[in-house]
Amino acid sequence: MKFFIDTANIDQIKEAKDLGVLDGVTTNPSLMAKEGISGDKAVIKHYEKICNLVDGDVSAEVIATDFEGIIKEGIALSKLAPNIVVKVPMIKDGVKALKYFYDNDIRTNCTLVFSAGQAILAAKAGANYLSPFVGRIDDISWDGMQLVSEIAEIYAIQGFETEILAASIRSSKHIVEAAKAGADVVTCPLSAILGLLNHPLTDIGLEKFLADHAKAKAKK
Ligand code: G3P
Repeated sequence: MKFFIDTANIDQIKEAKDLGVLDGVTTNPSLMAKEGISGDKAVIKHYEKICNLVDGDVSAEVIATDFEGIIKEGIALSKLAPNIVVKVPMIKDGVKALKYFYDNDIRTNCTLVFSAGQAILAAKAGANYLSPFVGRIDDISWDGMQLVSEIAEIYAIQGFETEILAASIRSSKHIVEAAKAGADVVTCPLSAILGLLNHPLTDIGLEKFLADHAKAKAKK
């Protein structure tokens, strides 16, 4: 399972990269706004910065919601760097655009996916990645990870090649569950990645190893 970081924050991207486990980055308009990035030029400059920083895929989301607008924006984004993946919302014109991008060798990530039906449609249209929003489904007291399992089962039966990118991940536990549910990629906040490190028995064990080593050294 690939690890993407779900942020537009350069320091957090650098920290995940330094850990040696980063395979890519996903962004969205809310994450860009959170970093204070607005205006076409600033957005483009920021995407270029991220693409230069990481070798893996970087999802850059279109703002347009009509077919022509999505195509225009997607083509412009795809020209920024070879690792750009155009993020397209799961709407009617978005599905049409996914097919256009597929036919024109532009890689895509279909976002805002909340049902197996939407997942089938995106795969049929040739999306490279599919982003089911796990946390937002959990937020309304449904089971987000159950959707990831269902999509994984359908894609395996049907032989769809679209990669399942579990998104809206909120915790380290979500990452483990996404791995079990058959996600190809998980995109998460840095805190969820770093949380995987934590176990009290690791801390206690390390403390004891170091104390025993120091005792043995002092005896010499
Ligand atoms: O990138 C899309 C997704 O990961 C959003 O997550 O936490 O805003 O639901 P969240």
